[in-house]
Amino acid sequence: PAGENVVTVHGDTPAPKFDRRLFGQFAEHLGTGIYGGIWVGKGSRIPNVDGYRRDVIDALKAIRTPVIRWPGGCFADEYHWREGVGPQARRKVKVNTNWGGVTEDNSFGTNEFMNYSELVGAEPYVSGNVGSAPPYELAEWVEYMTSPTGSSLAKERAANGRKAPWKLSMFGIGNELWGCGGNMRAEYAADVTRRYSTFIKMPEGQKVMKIASGANSEDYNWTEVMMRDAGAQFDGIGVHYYTIPYQWEHKGAATGFDEDQWARTLAKTVKMEELVTRHSAIMDKYDPKKRVALLVDEWGTWYDQEPGSHPGFLYQQNSLRDALVTSLNFDIFARHTDRLRGANIAQMINVLQAMMLTDGNRMVKTPTYWVFDLYKDYQDGVVLPVDVQSRWYNKNEWTLKAVSASAVRGTDGAVHMGLTNVDPNQPATVTVALTGVTGAGVTGRILTAPTMDAHNTFDAPGAVVPAAFTGATLADGRLTVTLPPKSVVMLDIR
Ligand code: AHR
Repeated sequence: PAGENVVTVHGDTPAPKFDRRLFGQFAEHLGTGIYGGIWVGKGSRIPNVDGYRRDVIDALKAIRTPVIRWPGGCFADEYHWREGVGPQARRKVKVNTNWGGVTEDNSFGTNEFMNYSELVGAEPYVSGNVGSAPPYELAEWVEYMTSPTGSSLAKERAANGRKAPWKLSMFGIGNELWGCGGNMRAEYAADVTRRYSTFIKMPEGQKVMKIASGANSEDYNWTEVMMRDAGAQFDGIGVHYYTIPYQWEHKGAATGFDEDQWARTLAKTVKMEELVTRHSAIMDKYDPKKRVALLVDEWGTWYDQEPGSHPGFLYQQNSLRDALVTSLNFDIFARHTDRLRGANIAQMINVLQAMMLTDGNRMVKTPTYWVFDLYKDYQDGVVLPVDVQSRWYNKNEWTLKAVSASAVRGTDGAVHMGLTNVDPNQPATVTVALTGVTGAGVTGRILTAPTMDAHNTFDAPGAVVPAAFTGATLADGRLTVTLPPKSVVMLDIR
């Protein structure tokens, strides 16, 4: 009947796996994303492991953080790795020209980042400086990180405290070459990418994924030209898409918003579906076998900075609305796993749509963190395609399906199914038909709160946290689920 919500899970026609790299993080030298957020230094009174704050390590491990992208962002194309190695007291102190003009003492450099990735259990995704450094500088950087032994750079690394090479998984050939990475035209960027890629060489037996700097949102010409002219020189290409409720000059507040802003934010975030579909279609023309991966290596919400925060630090609160932005994007990612094999939310701590906010020795997990937690069993699981028939949610000119869903058969053998109800006023009753899925029972967790902008603070860190969900029943291969208004639910069928 009209208005009924029906989801069909096709367990018998599995799609490519939900690559764990789709849960990737991004940590730029921006605001307190690194200094204060990750790194407090060994002498700090904040509990730390070798200078890295312990609460953040534990929280990143708990959501099985698979990838961290570093050092930028715009910062990457002005970063010179040599300024960030060797004794910390002797490192060059610079001005961070992109982000607030603050001093950058380079105390967090290559050794600190690569060791941190290992500590957290994440793969490092290092973005190279293509905009303002010669290819030789990047070649040496890669050699410093990966050369087993014998070369001067391997010896220098050992003298800096690290004898064995690190495993460098992913390397970015510049960032936003169309903008802060050099203001290049697509044709020029393609040639530059060919040139720089030539000199990124790995030791025998090691492989790095080379990732080209991708398009800004719907700049389809960028992907076209990069794939056409340089596609053989890289293994992945990015695309960046930020969800901005209004315009660049006035983006909208992170909290204290009305339902129009709720609806426009969620309607704008699901534009990701169109972007991924169209960039993928262009890639299919040049790479029908899908050798080259698409990576949304920057995504998330971008609001006006918090009143009173440092201009240029991009510090924003994170509410239940951000939780739904996250689950809607994960559902979209699940529909494109044939081509989409990585994503990096911007950014990990204290910047834009963060997992965590810190203040001195205090740390709070955001609603976005909790969606990463709810969905973590998707990592490397096989996607089970879903059809969603849903009533529409409308507010003013903003319209989207009230119900969003995706499903994955996890590496643990269970089927995990994410369901979101974007309507802030009405519950949604959903019938889920399970084909090719057998399970004796269903359990679940839910993330919701009384208000659209509910958020966690240092004084009230438990305002938006998952709770046990009892609104699903399983009988005769069918689930009946009642989703409360503005909620994200993760079901586990075993
Ligand atoms: O994430 C903040 C900035 O957004 C990044 O530095 C840049 O790549 C993008 O424009």
